[in-house]
Amino acid sequence: MDYTIRRAGQDDLPAVIGITNHYIRHSSCIMKERDEQMEERSIWLTENGDRYPLFVAVKGDEVVGWGGLSPHSERTAYRYTVHDAVYVRQDLRGQGIGSCLLDRLISAAKGLGYRSVIAVVVSDHQASIDLHHRHGFRDAGCLRQVGYKFGKWIDVMNMQLML
Ligand SMILES: CC(C)(COP(=O)(O)OP(=O)(O)OC[C@H]1O[C@@H](n2cnc3c(N)ncnc32)[C@H](O)[C@@H]1OP(=O)(O)O)[C@@H](O)C(=O)NCCC(=O)NCCS
Repeated sequence: MDYTIRRAGQDDLPAVIGITNHYIRHSSCIMKERDEQMEERSIWLTENGDRYPLFVAVKGDEVVGWGGLSPHSERTAYRYTVHDAVYVRQDLRGQGIGSCLLDRLISAAKGLGYRSVIAVVVSDHQASIDLHHRHGFRDAGCLRQVGYKFGKWIDVMNMQLML
């Protein structure tokens, strides 16, 4: 394994955003349609980074992937539930990086006292579905045609890991 996983700092954000924006522009694996901006990520990391940590995978001195936790809902009674997100640079997929990032997220979620982690995965993104199954997530229902991107209706799978 020639990469390491560590907590992200502000200096990592341009690379994190670069990876994310690639998928926003070219894939329906993420339901955003506009590029992420530095400022929103930066503020989020400063204000919420301890409760909802962001990790990066680093190869040499390059950020090649990221994984983060985020709230399930702003409604406070949902505070013990988080979502995960994992994104690996396109040319480095399939080398175990996503798996390491997800391991780290699950450990972090346990350490922070969350009760479960939810992954919301576009139903035809088999790599992501398989990744989550491999880490113990169970299918928790499919929502049909809740998304619309690149001229197509998109079904979304909810997957859940009890901690
Ligand atoms: C999904 C993603 C994060 C997986 O990361 P990765 O580094 O490529 O995956 P890994 O090499 O760690 O593989 C882990 C497991 O995922 C599954 N997997 C990975 N790539 C796969 C593929 N192309 N097809 C099917 N399953 C795949 C396998 O179960 C694999 O386990 P195995 O190696 O024992 O077979 C990565 O492909 C990615 O960034 N995709 C685009 C963004 C995305 O969909 N993110 C998820 C949003 S929740």
